[in-house]
Amino acid sequence: MPPALEEGRRTVRPQAPSPKDALNILLIIVDDLRPSLGCYGDKLVRSPNIDQLASRSLLFQNAFAQQAVCAPSRVSFLTGRRPDTTRLYDFNSYWRVHTGNFSTIPQYFKENGYVTMSVGKVFHPGISSNHSDDSPYSWSFPPYHPSSEKYENTKTCRGPDGELHANLLCPVDVVDVPEGTLPDKQSTEQAIQLLERMKMSSSPFFLAVGYHKPHIPFRYPKEFQKLYPLENITLAADPQVPDGLPPVAYNPWMDIRQREDVQALNISVPYGPIPVDFQRKIRQSYFASVSYLDTQVGHLLSTLDDLQLTNSTIIAFTSDHGWALGEHGEWAKYSNFDVTTRVPLMFYVPGRTTLFPEAGEKLFPYLDPFDSVSELMEPGRQSMHLVELVSLFPTLAGLAGLQVPPRCPIPSFQVMLCREGRSLLKHFLFHDLEEDPYLHSNPRELIAYSQYPRPADSPQWNSDKPTLKDIKIMGYSIRTIDYRYTVWVGFNPNEFLANFSDIHAGELYFVDSDPLQDHNVYNDSRGRELSPSLMP
Ligand SMILES: *[C@@H]1O[C@H](CO)[C@@H](O)[C@H](O)[C@H]1NC(C)=O
Ligand SMILES: *[C@@H]1O[C@H](CO)[C@@H](O)[C@H](O)[C@H]1NC(C)=O
Ligand SMILES: *[C@@H]1O[C@H](CO)[C@@H](O)[C@H](O)[C@H]1NC(C)=O
Ligand SMILES: *[C@@H]1O[C@H](CO)[C@@H](O)[C@H](O)[C@H]1NC(C)=O
Ligand SMILES: *[C@@H]1O[C@H](CO)[C@@H](O)[C@H](O)[C@H]1NC(C)=O
Repeated sequence: MPPALEEGRRTVRPQAPSPKDALNILLIIVDDLRPSLGCYGDKLVRSPNIDQLASRSLLFQNAFAQQAVCAPSRVSFLTGRRPDTTRLYDFNSYWRVHTGNFSTIPQYFKENGYVTMSVGKVFHPGISSNHSDDSPYSWSFPPYHPSSEKYENTKTCRGPDGELHANLLCPVDVVDVPEGTLPDKQSTEQAIQLLERMKMSSSPFFLAVGYHKPHIPFRYPKEFQKLYPLENITLAADPQVPDGLPPVAYNPWMDIRQREDVQALNISVPYGPIPVDFQRKIRQSYFASVSYLDTQVGHLLSTLDDLQLTNSTIIAFTSDHGWALGEHGEWAKYSNFDVTTRVPLMFYVPGRTTLFPEAGEKLFPYLDPFDSVSELMEPGRQSMHLVELVSLFPTLAGLAGLQVPPRCPIPSFQVMLCREGRSLLKHFLFHDLEEDPYLHSNPRELIAYSQYPRPADSPQWNSDKPTLKDIKIMGYSIRTIDYRYTVWVGFNPNEFLANFSDIHAGELYFVDSDPLQDHNVYNDSRGRELSPSLMP
């Protein structure tokens, strides 16, 4: 075992690791992927390649994003700071200018002798990463964006009328679409080329690959629909807007309403509902997009094998947040529910989460999701502990043997390099693969924090994505192993101040009796007695 890992968070190591023993990092970030995956117990979704990765990884069952929308979540976990520190709750500011000159995960690896590379959607594009994916700070050379990305929102979906539309549901014939390819295919090809190049390099690499699917629109090769016949698609288990739901907790999923096929349904704002047949079609297309994504992950990982890099590369796999597929009558992220905050999170660490591959052994052979269901993949190691995406920074640093950045003081706006999450290294410190030191510790000590802003107490046109100046309420939410507790409190966007004595609404759901979070018991006496600390 690398000595640095043994010493855990106290590790002190010369900064640049010698190329010989440095582990590479492959960080896979998926857009809007909830844990609807075989390895997370989903019986319908075909995700053999991700499941295979899970079988060789440490998988976190209870991992949560800090804010269920792309740019704030990505900036949070890539800088290792919570949204209240990045002060990015919308899409409209660059933290280095707006808040503080915070280091990012790739920047830290770059400064420690790594070649750092970005493919696809890693940072959210636009001003939130200075229109450059935080170049040059984070990356050794300019990030790659697939050329076909520009067609994502154009009229490339053939409708039942034979015409091309900008639809939500967009199964395509890949040979027919502009450029004859799709963004995630291009990203995989680019990532494979970079791996081939890095194979020759004497420096360790940090390669981040950001996949676009299953983000809307569901534009994917149409053959993936065959994996999910409509008659096999069920609705969400709780497709109604729950009775006791405070209106501030609900978000009206405005973005899918703008797609041509959804517009044509003339769905009432804000609560819907969407016709049942169309609900099935959305779910079908989401799952088909996940299986398409899975094939891209499969091609990428099998290349890592072919290049004999699996014995020297850590693979981290996660998503920026989840997505409601009809749960609570919602079809989007933009909330504090588990269904939008919970994310897949797993780490493959060679020699640690699995034995080192023997010469020539393939750990990640490509698996075809169309093959008749193969025997169930042996699950790898799993942790039920509550963990947060903001912990990715210290965890990756520690796993690679770099010094784990120190804990942030409060406030930390002046501190360039520190971390608000915890290093998850202890979860990996087992000599015997059967023995997990966390197994018998108390999971009740751990908490995952999330938050979501709102412009008003009732759902309105901008409730999904209020801009900073429009934020009037912040929903602070904690998830423990037993419950989710959320308070919606007054928020001043000029001072970035929450007023915890100005409570607009509260929610409390117990995991055992109400795992889907449909029965708000905040106003019951039981809920009132609970007043956990809401500040991390
Ligand atoms: C911010 O940090 C980067 C990377 O360390 C550094 O190059 C830059 O000069 C810093 N900018 C300011 C304004 O301190
Ligand atoms: C953001 O990008 C602009 C344009 O390329 C550049 O002039 C500016 O220095 C960048 N901001 C920072 C903080 O690096
Ligand atoms: C659809 O459901 C039927 C009945 O449960 C099952 O036999 C069939 O394999 C399913 N099809 C797919 C593609 O999962
Ligand atoms: C859309 O729905 C509203 C009421 O929900 C109705 O008044 C209107 O006529 C409908 N429009 C179309 C084109 O069906
Ligand atoms: C990984 O495996 C290859 C091929 O078996 C070997 O050449 C290389 O030295 C190994 N690297 C490490 C870090 O063990």
